[in-house]
Amino acid sequence: MTQNLDRLNALPLRDDLRGRTPYGAPQLDVAVALNTNENTHPVPADVHAAIVEEVTGAAWALNRYPDREFTALREELAAYLGHGLGAENLWAANGSNEILQQILQAFGGPGRTLLTFVPTYSMYPLLASGTHTAFVAGERAADFGLSPESAAEQVRRHRPDVVFLCSPNNPTGTALGADVVTAVYEAGEEFRTVVVVDEAYAEFSHGGTPTALTLLEGRPRLIVSRTMSKAFALAGARLGYFAAAPEVADAVRLVRLPYHLSAVTQATALAALRHSGSLLANVEDIKVQRDRIVEGLTRLGLEPAASDSNFVFFGGMADSRGMWEALLEDGVLVRDVGIPGHLRVTAGTEAETTAFLTSLERILSGA
Ligand SMILES: Cc1ncc(COP(=O)(O)O)c(C=O)c1O
Repeated sequence: MTQNLDRLNALPLRDDLRGRTPYGAPQLDVAVALNTNENTHPVPADVHAAIVEEVTGAAWALNRYPDREFTALREELAAYLGHGLGAENLWAANGSNEILQQILQAFGGPGRTLLTFVPTYSMYPLLASGTHTAFVAGERAADFGLSPESAAEQVRRHRPDVVFLCSPNNPTGTALGADVVTAVYEAGEEFRTVVVVDEAYAEFSHGGTPTALTLLEGRPRLIVSRTMSKAFALAGARLGYFAAAPEVADAVRLVRLPYHLSAVTQATALAALRHSGSLLANVEDIKVQRDRIVEGLTRLGLEPAASDSNFVFFGGMADSRGMWEALLEDGVLVRDVGIPGHLRVTAGTEAETTAFLTSLERILSGA
């Protein structure tokens, strides 16, 4: 490891990348992996068959570059989102991580600033550094909430070129009100701030939680980012997308790599979208398990945050690292997000949730 580091340091690496750590959520071979907020339900058989058929068809044309405009996929994504959106409002990339990177390539960059409100998704600072965008860590209240007044004041203070609002927020799990999004957008009017609402977990929200899709009309600098990695159980396919004014898609066309979405990716996503009913059927079950975790943690004397996502952030442990290790010894992998006294657990299948709660109860009882 030290030898690798010495070799890395000997390379003419960009100065601002020296000493940085790459994204690295542990990928361990454990019985119950609940650490990266995947959808742990297997791909349903009818969706599997549809993907295989669509990809088999696409394989005959792999000698050619894929449709650079992925028109059919943008049409299906628009139909899925609704809200009067058309293909011209949609854009897709290899996961919403690439979506966010393309947004920063187009609207961030040297001399420009990204503001977000921590704790939030750990990739945001890495995406900022990779695109040479200055990263400003805005503040939240002690309970990790964010009021419209505080968010707007921080926008006026920092004058960011781009704001990332994560809703529901990773790792804390709670969604932001529409009033926060509109307050941030209005506060950024003077600086022409681009406001991105990262809704990677939107499908898991409690009924009645608003999506920023309803706010797109008349807001040309608002972008709503989504993914098929979570609710659609397609993390391995790498398909993220955004909805925005058509000119935002034109802006990212300037920075995307040619043919960035492979024919295999497009075929997989199309087949999945055409079977969205089957895939999304598991969302309800995951929400039940999520609420069961909140209930179970409360019963065990821990402090779970309210969650609109497929994971639960919880505190109330004196030694969260010790708890993380003890759970791992039982074959249950959760996420230590680096906030003392807190851990984050993904809501899995009923059996996985039971394994997590049983292990936790055993550890807490000292058995
Ligand atoms: C808030 C948030 N946004 C974006 C992503 C990226 O997801 P993907 O690149 O798989 O679409 C994640 C993944 O965990 C996330 O938690």
